[in-house]
Amino acid sequence: MRYAAITDRLKDLGGDKWAIHNAARARMAKGEEVIELTIGEPDITPDPALIEECVTALRSGRTRYSNGRGEAGLVDALVETYRPRMPDIGPENVLCFPGTQTALYAVFTALTSDGDGVLIGDPYYATYEGVVQASGAHVQPVPLHMEHDFELQPADLASAITPESRVLLLNTPHNPTGAVLTRDTLLALGELCIAHDLWIVCDEVYEALIFDGSFASPLEIEALRERTIVVSSISKSHAATGFRSGWAIGPAEFTRRLLPISETMLFGNQPFIADMTEAALRGNYPTAALLREALGRRAALVHGLVQQVPGLSSRLPAGGMFIMIDVSGTGLDGDAFATRLIEEHGVAVMPGSSFGNEGLNLVRVALTVPDADLREALSRMGTLSRSLLAGAA
Ligand SMILES: Cc1ncc(COP(=O)(O)O)c(C=O)c1O
Repeated sequence: MRYAAITDRLKDLGGDKWAIHNAARARMAKGEEVIELTIGEPDITPDPALIEECVTALRSGRTRYSNGRGEAGLVDALVETYRPRMPDIGPENVLCFPGTQTALYAVFTALTSDGDGVLIGDPYYATYEGVVQASGAHVQPVPLHMEHDFELQPADLASAITPESRVLLLNTPHNPTGAVLTRDTLLALGELCIAHDLWIVCDEVYEALIFDGSFASPLEIEALRERTIVVSSISKSHAATGFRSGWAIGPAEFTRRLLPISETMLFGNQPFIADMTEAALRGNYPTAALLREALGRRAALVHGLVQQVPGLSSRLPAGGMFIMIDVSGTGLDGDAFATRLIEEHGVAVMPGSSFGNEGLNLVRVALTVPDADLREALSRMGTLSRSLLAGAA
């Protein structure tokens, strides 16, 4: 039988990136003890009052079809949430989606097609390549450097732009590196986007999880607003990953064109989840602050421990859920180090190769586990690193 080309474009972009994670799960299923630092899922539950909002909505019959844009109450809450950044925002600038991931898929379906280039800081979030390639476009990687705390440098962007470039995909705070873009950097990147007529898609899903510095969005910069689309969700801010509730904010003409794509794909969102999301946006829940405190503390803990291990180095992330560790000083690359670490020491980390070509010497550690597990994991990484260095001596 014949299949559409998209199935070939995406076939190598799924499982391979998760090989170490899958190996860890297989070991755990056999009863082995593994410290799993692979995926970043908040390690707290949503606020009970928010769950109650959802249950109440379900019980009161909020179970019918919605509309393509989103439930009116949620759209209004999003308008109010984003008004400080976008003073002239209205419902026509908002579209609700089941999560940032779906929003990204729909947004790229609307912006790019065969042959188009999408500029992305490399390393990048594992699903970006698939999202871009699904539309027929290709990733144009822009290297992110550890010595710049992985912040995308305007000069690197300038060198990566070609006539095929259509979109700059930003992610701040950044997965996997924890970099947070400053307003000055956004201004400089934005100037290049204006000069080359590029869209800016900004994934702000970790906005609430900044522990050093402040958040800046291209949406706040008036000159960039006509070319900026922000995607985000309550997945991280409210520890509500399974609710699948997110949105896209962009120019009215863009959302007008996006709406039929969304309607064709989704036929609306779920009213009871919309009600819960509206409550999340309007309410004052402690979830984000709790996560921020724990993640910031663990980032500092891991970064401090890394400095004591010969062969390893890291930068203190400014936000997000992860820290990247450079393992090249041990003589191994990220893949080989991660493989030895799970096989010999029962610690699962993501090799940097899962996030593009620039992360080959790195491994990513999720900060979403108890401090004691991180201490133990770093102690085992130290054992591996020292034995590698002793072997090389
Ligand atoms: C950078 C980034 N974007 C998007 C997502 C997906 O978010 P959502 O749960 O809102 O689909 C994740 C999830 O880990 C992520 O790290």
